[in-house]
Amino acid sequence: MCGIIGYVGARSAGEIIYRGLENLEYRGYDSAGVALVGEQLAIHKRAGEVADLTVPADETATCGIGHTRWSTHGPPTDINAHPHVDCAGEVAVVHNGIIENHEALRDALDGCEFVSETDTEVIPHLLEQEVHDGASLTDAVASVAQAIEGSYAFAVVHAGENAIVATREQSPLVLGRGEDGMFLASDIPAFLEHTREVAYLEDGQVATITADDIRLGGNASSTSPTYETVEWDADSAEKGGYEHYMRKEIHEQPQALRQTLSERIDLNRGTVAVDLDFPTGYLDSVEEVQFVAAGTSYYASRYGARLLEELADVRTSVTIASEYEFGGGRDPWRTLTVAVTQSGETTDTLEAINSAGQAGARTLAVTNVIGSSVTRSVDDTLFIKAGPEIGVAASKTFSSQVTTLGLLAVAIAHERDTLPRSQIRRLLGDLNGLPGAIQQVLDEEDAVRAVASEYLDMDAFFFIGRELGYPVALEGALKLKEIAYVHAEGFAAGELKHGPLALVTGRTPVIALLTNGAQPAATTHNVAEAQTRGAPAIGIVAEGRDVEHLDVEFTVPSSGLFEPLVGNVYLQLLAYHIANQLGRSIDKPRNLAKSVTVR
Ligand code: M6R
Repeated sequence: MCGIIGYVGARSAGEIIYRGLENLEYRGYDSAGVALVGEQLAIHKRAGEVADLTVPADETATCGIGHTRWSTHGPPTDINAHPHVDCAGEVAVVHNGIIENHEALRDALDGCEFVSETDTEVIPHLLEQEVHDGASLTDAVASVAQAIEGSYAFAVVHAGENAIVATREQSPLVLGRGEDGMFLASDIPAFLEHTREVAYLEDGQVATITADDIRLGGNASSTSPTYETVEWDADSAEKGGYEHYMRKEIHEQPQALRQTLSERIDLNRGTVAVDLDFPTGYLDSVEEVQFVAAGTSYYASRYGARLLEELADVRTSVTIASEYEFGGGRDPWRTLTVAVTQSGETTDTLEAINSAGQAGARTLAVTNVIGSSVTRSVDDTLFIKAGPEIGVAASKTFSSQVTTLGLLAVAIAHERDTLPRSQIRRLLGDLNGLPGAIQQVLDEEDAVRAVASEYLDMDAFFFIGRELGYPVALEGALKLKEIAYVHAEGFAAGELKHGPLALVTGRTPVIALLTNGAQPAATTHNVAEAQTRGAPAIGIVAEGRDVEHLDVEFTVPSSGLFEPLVGNVYLQLLAYHIANQLGRSIDKPRNLAKSVTVR
């Protein structure tokens, strides 16, 4: 979705902002632009890629703002691209989110000349009136924030003033303090190569950013932000020699999982620590754990929910976040509602968890991004610690989400005393072995690449699995359709014969999860049903398990209930190599965005 970058300092704003726009590309966008501050504003913007945007090399400005736009109001055209300006061209605005009352505001702004179809353009015209009436830019932004409705983040510059003023409401903005300038962005990777010292803007706060300081609030009572140092380094947000972020992130999974697990399990004592401040006895009394999530995070939630049922004997439900309002929140006061969201910014998930909290549920976020919006909405947060994920397709964060939910399930099982200690030790051993098991799968990449070339031109792919294999089948299909634009469906293996079998032909490979935790014996029969109708069969098979007549077999190292998760790495590699051989735009698939901040 849209991205914001701003810089004011001693260096060339044009260069820093342009680089920031490149770093924001992964969020998904269709136009880009910058506003650079001088006695007059210099605006450069256009529809298309950042690479299509030219910022003249002789620009001497040291202050400016930039934007990548993902169209909502009005198609991607040069005129609709941000920044947008007031009538005099003295105030420029970049904006993420949606101004819900923009039509009413537009009608009220009699006499202003509107040139775009965007909701954003009301902001510079509202600001122009405030500034004309003598308000400082900071006060003008505070006042306009009162007038607009919706979820938004916006940043403003004014001709002749080396300062950026920004505010937010339910849309992220991060501040950065560097050695030779100050930064503002919608997320950290935009400026990570310049500084790791960050502060998160809260809803309703106004930040005034100058070359050597950032102040929060109005002039009379301003305060300094509280900075923290992020652990992510610039390299982790770079491609590091890989052709695509996604392939790099697939290969980073062993390291990401070491991070997810670090300091959380004690193999000697057989204990797990997830650092949650639940009231004493709470986990014993909770009647249901309800997950709300979208996309890949929804599949991770289904995996986690099944683990909780199996290990901790807790009733669970998993609701697609955008469906939560239609009856998702029964008996909230007896429920722990868990929002699983990599970005922590998905609007559907935020709305669901907020309404669960308002209805009386205790709320927990499972997320990757420190300081993200979801962390402000919930009672507790569990970080998955996967490191930055830039590819639009989720890969390492799925593995870290499931692993984190596995840790949570074991912790709750321990608290509720539902498992013998020997089984807890075995589970912790399996969790601890995940980085090594995934590395063994990654070492098979050449074999997966060869299978990808063999099946490249098939009509469709069907992924099947039972129990913990079912969410992985859904995730495998999502990955393939998302990055390869190939028709793929995930089914509960037992459902194949209830309808989808009609689609099966010699040109529809069936990919089956045949590992522990996925009821391999029963699924093997479903594979045979498909093979009888001519379908090639690819098995993701538990080490040591003998499955006859498979066309392709990939072996999953022993990892107990986490074998479907390890097997999923084959599905990631398969989707990646099919997409790569088809020449797809893997890191930025068409029509998709990394962080989905609209309903
Ligand atoms: O940031 P979130 O985990 O809340 O995002 C939810 C989905 O948009 C996301 O998982 C999406 O399905 C993936 N990018 C697919 O690979």
